Order: sequence, then C-alpha cells, then structure tokens
Amino acid sequence: MTGLFITLEGPEGAGKSTNREYLAERLRAQGIDVVLTREPGGTPLAERIRELLLAPSDEAMDADTELLLVFAARAQHLAAVIRPALARGAVVLCDRFTDATYAYQGGGRGLSVERIAALENFVQGDLRPDLTLVFDLPVEIGLARATARGRLDRFEQEGRAFFDAVRSTYLARAAAAPERYRLVEAALPLDQVQASLDGLLPDLLSLLAERQNG
Ligand code: TMP
Repeated sequence: MTGLFITLEGPEGAGKSTNREYLAERLRAQGIDVVLTREPGGTPLAERIRELLLAPSDEAMDADTELLLVFAARAQHLAAVIRPALARGAVVLCDRFTDATYAYQGGGRGLSVERIAALENFVQGDLRPDLTLVFDLPVEIGLARATARGRLDRFEQEGRAFFDAVRSTYLARAAAAPERYRLVEAALPLDQVQASLDGLLPDLLSLLAERQNG
C-alpha cells in the first residue's frame, strides 16, 4: 500500500461533505490523485445497501442486521474502490468508516466493542485508516442542522441519548489513540474550520511522501 487512507467522522450536520470537498481540492491542487468516497456506499451495490440502512421502515431493524449490512457494504467498498486506490498510491478521503460503526452501532445501539472488532478484523484484515478527522459538534447543533435539511433518515430520527452516545464514543476513541485522530471543532465558522484543515495539510503531505518513498 503506497496511498493514504483518511476518514472523516462526526455526527450529522457537522459539515463533513463540504469539508471533504475542500480538502480534496487542496490536495488536488498539489497534483495528488484523490479518491473521494463515502460510507455506507461508494459503489453501486454498497449504495443500495445504504438505501436499506437509511430508509425509515415499519419493520424495526435488528441491531445485528444493521451491523452486518454496514460491514457488507464496507466489504464491497474495500474490494472495489478503497484497496485498488490505495494500491495505486492515491489519497482516499472517505466520509465515514468503521469509527462510525463503533459510534452508531456500538455507542448508539449498544452493541459490544468485541463484536464490532471481530467483524472489523474479518472484513478489513489489518487495514485501518492512516488518519481520522473527527468533526466534533454539540449534539443539539447537529440535530438542528439535520432537521433543517428536511426529511429525516432512519438514524436522524433517533433521539438525544443516541447522539450523546455517538459523540462520546467518537471523543473517547480519539482520546485513546491521539496519533491517529485529529479533532476538528465543527461548530466554528466555516472559514475557521477550513483554516484548521489547511493546518493539517503539511502533515498529510509528509505522511504521503513517506509512504511513497518507503
Ligand atoms: P451520512 O453519511 O449521510 O451522514 O449518513 C450515514 C448514516 O449512516 C449516518 O447516520 C451514520 C450511519 N452509519 C452507521 O450507523 N454506521 C456506519 O458504520 C456508517 C459508515 C454510517
């Protein structure tokens, strides 16, 4: 693997999509091959699994079903998009990955870390993101932004306690492995958030150069 695998995490309404475009643009300006993608999704089949996961339904989805669907989509995405891109030396910028599974299925739904870790090892082998940006935001701001966007998906319909658990899981994971995570204060005005992303660029570029030379 000579590429760099960067994931963006955080609650709904944290501005991940806008900022991932911004980061991609900055990297491309340096002549870097950037693959922008997202989870669940990123391939036609995985996007169909995403629809199953996000659509509100009268039939309650069992938490294990949800977990397996998330990892089924991930297996397809890894095989078809992420691993080939990393193998050719690209920077993969992925909007959500397995940290979201720990936050939503683990923190939110209460599934055990062991169960998630078992699937993580099964589906990913030893592949982990090189760097994870956690867009952190007070829960009420995220919920208000998601609500203002219109119809709520199956996750957005969850309550305050669910999103408190999502946020605290992200923060705990970031605190436990500071070398892999960078916290981005997503409640700041956009220009300040983007200035903090600019501040990360030199690190990203040297990490990529290291990877490609070593
Ligand atoms: P979003 O990417 O548009 O924010 O929506 C994706 C939703 O899927 C979001 O509510 C988080 C949820 N999700 C999980 O529950 N587990 C996962 O592993 C991933 C990648 C996303």
